[in-house]
Amino acid sequence: MYTQTNQMFKKIENSNSASDKCQPKLLYGRNYIKEDRNSAFTCLIFSPKEEDEVGSLGKYLQLFVKHKVNLLHIESRSSLRRPNNYEFMVDCAPSGNIASVIEALQDQCSYFSIISSDHKDNMNTVPWFPRRIRDLDKFANQILSYGAELDSDHPGFTDPVYRKRRKFFADIAYHYKHGQPIPKVEYTPEEIATWGVIFKNLTKLYPKYACREHNHVFPLLIENCGYREDNIPQLEDISNFLKDSTGFTLRPVAGLLSSRDFLAGLAFRVFHSTQYIRHSSKPLYTPEPDVCHEILGHVPLLADPSFAQFSQVIGLASLGAPDEYIEKLATCFWFTVEYGICRQNGELKAYGAGLLSSFGELEYCLSGKSELRPFDPPKTSLQKYPITEYQPVYFVAEDFDDAKQKMIKFAQNIPRKFGVRYDAYTQSISIIDSKQQVEALVNNVNQELQILTDALKKLHH
Ligand SMILES: [Fe+2]
Repeated sequence: MYTQTNQMFKKIENSNSASDKCQPKLLYGRNYIKEDRNSAFTCLIFSPKEEDEVGSLGKYLQLFVKHKVNLLHIESRSSLRRPNNYEFMVDCAPSGNIASVIEALQDQCSYFSIISSDHKDNMNTVPWFPRRIRDLDKFANQILSYGAELDSDHPGFTDPVYRKRRKFFADIAYHYKHGQPIPKVEYTPEEIATWGVIFKNLTKLYPKYACREHNHVFPLLIENCGYREDNIPQLEDISNFLKDSTGFTLRPVAGLLSSRDFLAGLAFRVFHSTQYIRHSSKPLYTPEPDVCHEILGHVPLLADPSFAQFSQVIGLASLGAPDEYIEKLATCFWFTVEYGICRQNGELKAYGAGLLSSFGELEYCLSGKSELRPFDPPKTSLQKYPITEYQPVYFVAEDFDDAKQKMIKFAQNIPRKFGVRYDAYTQSISIIDSKQQVEALVNNVNQELQILTDALKKLHH
């Protein structure tokens, strides 16, 4: 029987690491990037027409040489779409005459698909998205702003010590690679004092205002990850705790990511987290996410299986989706994961991280001063929102499973030529666009059902 685990990888070349030596460079418009942002990733996936040898890759590579297209990564693998066939996956650098290569390949191959971050100029391509968990390393090149760069109204703008510290945190994240432990940081007494004020104030409010899931996980974080008034917990310890709970992991991030990149991380159950703390002059205010927001607001919910699944559903829906849908999904994310309220035992409780990490807004959101509407993705996804003020509208979810079902239904309307599925064994995304793949998956589901049926029988005895 054919299953996904039969997939054979044969790595021929991987020159990605060569770019590691590059340092970030400040470009016009405050963007730190290693290379031109327009230097698109283009990925081609193709299968030979006949039942060809894996060695036939050489023939195809000649096309790239002929048209002077440089390759960053080449892979041959067992085809997921046709039995006994192979397929090739090639990452191209922006060079040479790629259009001619594409034309020739389309002619010679039985299966052909293009994934490109240059999708706006070419409607036949699918917007690029990471397919393996280590592809998330590529996002470090694409951050919208880098640590030490602060807006003029930022509380730390005129503080050179704070700015230097932000650069230190940004550098950790910038050089981080998948699979490495997240470097532990020795926080200064001033930073710990800032954290202490926030921790003390918020933990007083949680029993009354936070949802059941948050209150359930919080004591575990105190016990296992060093959540204390006089200690800022380490991302590495939290990431390991989350991995054991729901398979989520944290990844340090140097600055703001685009919505597309941030949401793509969620598809792999990876949460991009800041590690720096807000400026000490205003402990109860931050104009941007900081470590308090991430680990007091987001982390407890990511340890809840149902919420973790809900977050991943948004992430999977975003992969390869057109830009207007990315905006809609990011808006749904805002009104759920960031500012969501839910109903529990007839009472309204906060589950959004923006609420659970804001001393003022946590009380405000349940005070009846703002409008409450039911969470309904087709409508919620169109709602405009302010970023630096309290929200005038909140959306109420019945529970995470209900919210998840609504998101899945909403995602079905996203125009995409294929289905996607996360394979937790290989930590990669399968693009499902053939009958053969669906059959293999149905077989897997059958096996799972047998295990469950068997377990049920044992429970009856
Ligand atoms: Fe957040």
